[in-house]
Amino acid sequence: MASAQALSQAPTVAGMPAPMIPYQHSLLGAEEQTRRAETFYREMDGRRSVRFFSGEPVPRRLIETAIRTASTAPSGAHRQPWTFVMTRDPVIKHRIRVAAEEEERTNYEGGRLPDHWLEALEPLGTDWHKEFLETVPWVVVLFEQRYGIDDKGQKLHHFYVKESCGIAAGLFIAALHHMGLATLTHTPSPMKFLTDLLGRPANERPFCMFPIGYPADDCVVPDLHRKSLAEVLVEVGTAASGDE
Ligand SMILES: Cc1cc2nc3c(=O)[nH]c(=O)nc-3n(C[C@H](O)[C@H](O)[C@H](O)COP(=O)(O)O)c2cc1C
Repeated sequence: MASAQALSQAPTVAGMPAPMIPYQHSLLGAEEQTRRAETFYREMDGRRSVRFFSGEPVPRRLIETAIRTASTAPSGAHRQPWTFVMTRDPVIKHRIRVAAEEEERTNYEGGRLPDHWLEALEPLGTDWHKEFLETVPWVVVLFEQRYGIDDKGQKLHHFYVKESCGIAAGLFIAALHHMGLATLTHTPSPMKFLTDLLGRPANERPFCMFPIGYPADDCVVPDLHRKSLAEVLVEVGTAASGDE
């Protein structure tokens, strides 16, 4: 199997070129490529955002591995501007639920969300109730680091923070799905309450919250349809001869 050389644990030094190491890549045959491509597509097409969970426990090491996977994401200047905060503490999950529901009640019923947004949410059947934040065994909050802090306590510039965190979030969701877990990409905005509740420093801002567990036996999801390839793909230019 093609495996990339894991990045060395040795820290790079700003302003100094990192040593170059051979990239480990094993070439796949065309058939194997197609098989893997189709298998992975089908697997990811089966992923859904879940809002009804069972309380069945999930081993901590699975969540850790998903976070390790997310942390392999490319990032602007390799600054990896993210922190994943995980909790299974019932008291903390309860506080998160109460605070999230307070914000969401204002969003849904207090006039904070404009009509066109409420209309867009209508097919999903969501409202301000967020029981799942207490039902799930784990809640993970991804914080974006707006800047880092170096060894001397000085501010370290981070680049493309949102893009980097978005890619890390995608890998995280894919990793969870691949290991048979379910999650919801949850953004009970504004999410400042998460910084306070989880005691995060001033350089971090909540990016996304992920309740994680197994779907409830009677879990349902909205019957949504994904855009076709033709709707999301545009090819420009002419193919080189011999290309399929
Ligand atoms: C950035 C982002 C924020 C989201 N926030 C919420 C949320 O706060 N609550 C919710 O129920 N779903 C949320 N979702 C989930 C979307 O509603 C869901 O991905 C979409 O309806 C497609 O469904 P699927 O994930 O099952 O394919 C969010 C998704 C994204 C990408």
